[in-house]
Amino acid sequence: MTLLGIDIGGTGIKGAPVDVETGQLTAERLRIPTPQPALPNAVADVVQQIAAHFNYQGPTGVTFPAVVKKGVIYTASNVDSSWIGTNAGELFSKHVGGPATVVNDADAAGIAEMRFGAGQDRPGVVIMITLGTGIGSAIFLDGKLLPNAEFGHLQIRGKDAEKRASEKMREVKKLSWKQWAKRLSEYLNELEKLFSPDLFIIGGGISKKSEKFFPLLKTKTEVIVVPAEMRNEAGIIGAAYLARPS
Ligand code: BGC
Repeated sequence: MTLLGIDIGGTGIKGAPVDVETGQLTAERLRIPTPQPALPNAVADVVQQIAAHFNYQGPTGVTFPAVVKKGVIYTASNVDSSWIGTNAGELFSKHVGGPATVVNDADAAGIAEMRFGAGQDRPGVVIMITLGTGIGSAIFLDGKLLPNAEFGHLQIRGKDAEKRASEKMREVKKLSWKQWAKRLSEYLNELEKLFSPDLFIIGGGISKKSEKFFPLLKTKTEVIVVPAEMRNEAGIIGAAYLARPS
């Protein structure tokens, strides 16, 4: 079965049809810059353009960088505050000609990794962390997701973790890889204290530069930085997978 997956990010909105049995994209993905300001109707128009580009009508999975419950957006750390209370499921459904399943972006990426990528056949407690504009997180026990974990907002040295250790902060603060890896290790160590995970999976834009920081990380837990195949597409794949009709 092939379903459309769409990944909404702060700078780009990406989509592609996905074979949800294999986790493979069946066509080259389309990326459209996120409209600024990223208000609900403007974003929904882009969602519609992506569905139209693939000539697609039907169940669609859409990621969103916030807490999402039953299609409703609850938080807005890195998005316009007008999203809070918006029923994104209903809004996007009108634009894709089928039901839209809206999920947190890191949850979708985590699902894709657990089902088709680095987390396959990995039982126990697995924590996926995505490093980009913010820090996204997803936690699994024996492959089952606990949705909407917001570990990017854990307080480290009195600050939101994502304001210290995200990819964006590395750039904004012009941190060296060593300085940034120290911050990231401190953050992962805090998660270790709280959850005693069996595995960390690190994804998001930063995973492209894995060789720069991976050797500098200091954790007790095994860390996998996601390999190239899934890097850019995990959100799209996980969203499409979660949109499977029950
Ligand atoms: C949001 C999360 C999101 C993460 C990555 C955080 O600021 O609170 O919901 O998953 O950014 O986009």
